[in-house]
Amino acid sequence: MKDYQAWADEYSKQLATLYDADESKQLFLLAYSFISHKKPLHYALERHMPVADDIANQFLHMLQELQRGRPIQHIIGEADFFGLRFKVNEHTLIPRTETEELVDWIMKEYGNTRDLSILDIGTGSGSIAITLSKHLPHARVEALDISKDAIAVARDNAARLGVQVNFIEADVLEWDSFMQDSQRYTVIVSNPPYITPNEQAQMHINVLQYEPHSALFVEEHNPLLFYNVAADLAKKHMEHQGALFFEINQYLGQQTLDLLRKKGFEDVRLRKDLNNVDRMICAKMIF
Ligand SMILES: C[S@@+](CC[C@H](N)C(=O)[O-])C[C@H]1O[C@@H](n2cnc3c(N)ncnc32)[C@H](O)[C@@H]1O
Repeated sequence: MKDYQAWADEYSKQLATLYDADESKQLFLLAYSFISHKKPLHYALERHMPVADDIANQFLHMLQELQRGRPIQHIIGEADFFGLRFKVNEHTLIPRTETEELVDWIMKEYGNTRDLSILDIGTGSGSIAITLSKHLPHARVEALDISKDAIAVARDNAARLGVQVNFIEADVLEWDSFMQDSQRYTVIVSNPPYITPNEQAQMHINVLQYEPHSALFVEEHNPLLFYNVAADLAKKHMEHQGALFFEINQYLGQQTLDLLRKKGFEDVRLRKDLNNVDRMICAKMIF
């Protein structure tokens, strides 16, 4: 009978072609926590304990799924974002740590604003909208996505996390046809699709094969499509003291900045993420 340490070693060995040593260790700890219903820290206490057959079967099954490249968040059906647990599936992007930094920026800039109204464009699992609603309970939050299945997951997440968000199934490219003229938002935020097909070669199999391409990719010849459209929407529907917040393609920082300035936005700020690449933009409009 193997002990837990032996299973950890097995994960490192079998996943070496897909993940580096640290990632494999993290994956094992997540698997351990999910299977044993204990905190990952608990592993240190029982690493030399024998693993019962039914638990061993679960470790093996999860390892086989991981070897296929399936993301652990899809296997366990959940992902952590900003200290909250979100249900995710094949219809939703797995929320990323760089997006937590964008949410943090919004909270620092607008956390104390009264009468706050927020629109999240391309909400996916609802991670941005729900986190903002949870931390800024006075805010009125709306979120839209073109994917009916993503909206269903987002609604479920809002209910589980006990927040009120108005979810709308809609195509942002058609915003002018469904948004009421009088609608105004203080914060308009979006992490839209921004990866060009050329970048696929650098992407991990677990993203390419398992995450929805409609959430990831834009056409090579028009990579800023969603920024262009969201900026036009913001020009009409953003409040005077409001701001537009975008997560961006790390290679298109300057182009996105130029686009926003050309459209008349001012105080346009580009920020790097923890990996030190251009990752987010805040833009305001002086009316
Ligand atoms: C990069 S994902 C972001 C998901 C989530 N906001 C996050 O940060 O984890 C982009 C989202 O935009 C949605 N989307 C793609 N095209 C859209 C469109 N034309 N209108 C509205 N949403 C769209 C996708 O379904 C996807 O959920």
